[in-house]
Amino acid sequence: MKGIILAGGNGTRLSPSTNSMNKHLLAVYDKPMIYYPLSMLMLAGIKKIMIISTPEDLPRFKQLLGDGTSLGISLHFKIQEEPRGIPDAFIVAEDFIGEDNVTLILGDNIFYGQGLTDILRKAVKNHSGATVFGYRVKDPKRFGVVEFDDNQKVVSLEEKPEEPKSDFAVTGLYIYDNKVINIAKKLQFSDRAELEITDVNKKYLENDRLDVELLGRGFAWLDAGTHDALFEASEFIKNIEQRQGFKVACIEEIAYYMGYLPKEKLLEIGESMGNNDYGKYLIDISSRKHVEQYWGVSDHHPSLRVVENE
Ligand code: DAU
Repeated sequence: MKGIILAGGNGTRLSPSTNSMNKHLLAVYDKPMIYYPLSMLMLAGIKKIMIISTPEDLPRFKQLLGDGTSLGISLHFKIQEEPRGIPDAFIVAEDFIGEDNVTLILGDNIFYGQGLTDILRKAVKNHSGATVFGYRVKDPKRFGVVEFDDNQKVVSLEEKPEEPKSDFAVTGLYIYDNKVINIAKKLQFSDRAELEITDVNKKYLENDRLDVELLGRGFAWLDAGTHDALFEASEFIKNIEQRQGFKVACIEEIAYYMGYLPKEKLLEIGESMGNNDYGKYLIDISSRKHVEQYWGVSDHHPSLRVVENE
């Protein structure tokens, strides 16, 4: 399974903050926005990840994250010349995806909730067809919307409908088999001159290969695409982190728990950050005697259960 983070676009809704800075590099509380989708792919166990962004912004992502070696993963970077739409990611990343399945996450989507790692890992393992995630929202008009019949079977999908047929939005996390590349290549541009991810999902639905997993009210799904949404996302993360004393989407910590990063390396990264809170946190994590999983991983994933550090 390969992973893609789509982090291009114009970010005009966040102007002027995005006039000289890519949206996905803006801070959501204490770390850049892209850390959140990256952490999701890492938790899913995906180690080969491509970041797609604009010609101007891609170097900044490289500068921020390097080639992933320091996190025990492999990061690849590719330019999307124009914001031609979300499914364009599969065309841009065709060589990178090769014969594999692929998980795409939008760079401005933030997920949080107990049990998420399990859900992700199950969806990614032996994947076939398409899996997307539905989430109840107050303002479905802003999203792709999925309609179910009485037996919870999906009957329709619509992109930003004027009159939504349900309150369930399709989130920006998509898992596909390799056929998605050809599906993307055959799409027509929509009225807003973009290739639409909803059209990809409709194709899978037509072929009875679409699975929609619902994320319940115990999960938080935030997209940080407007000033209010960005501010609310920062507040949400701050509240959780200050209450629990754990960071959300700390990619170095996740690499450590996943067994990609030895304790000494985690400590070294923490120390290299000087005396800031993020660095102190890494140092603290590396020296905890009893480290418990906090993102709700079950016993089935022993590699994620660092229960005791000597
Ligand atoms: O957030 C979930 C929603 O994302 C889904 O419910 C919708 O079905 C889906 O179309 C998408 O809607 P948005 O209108 O929010 O997508 P937006 O154009 O804002 O792009 C989402 C992210 O992808 C954003 O971080 C910018 C990036 N992007 C977008 C396009 C169109 C690119 O990097 N390249 C692109 O060509």
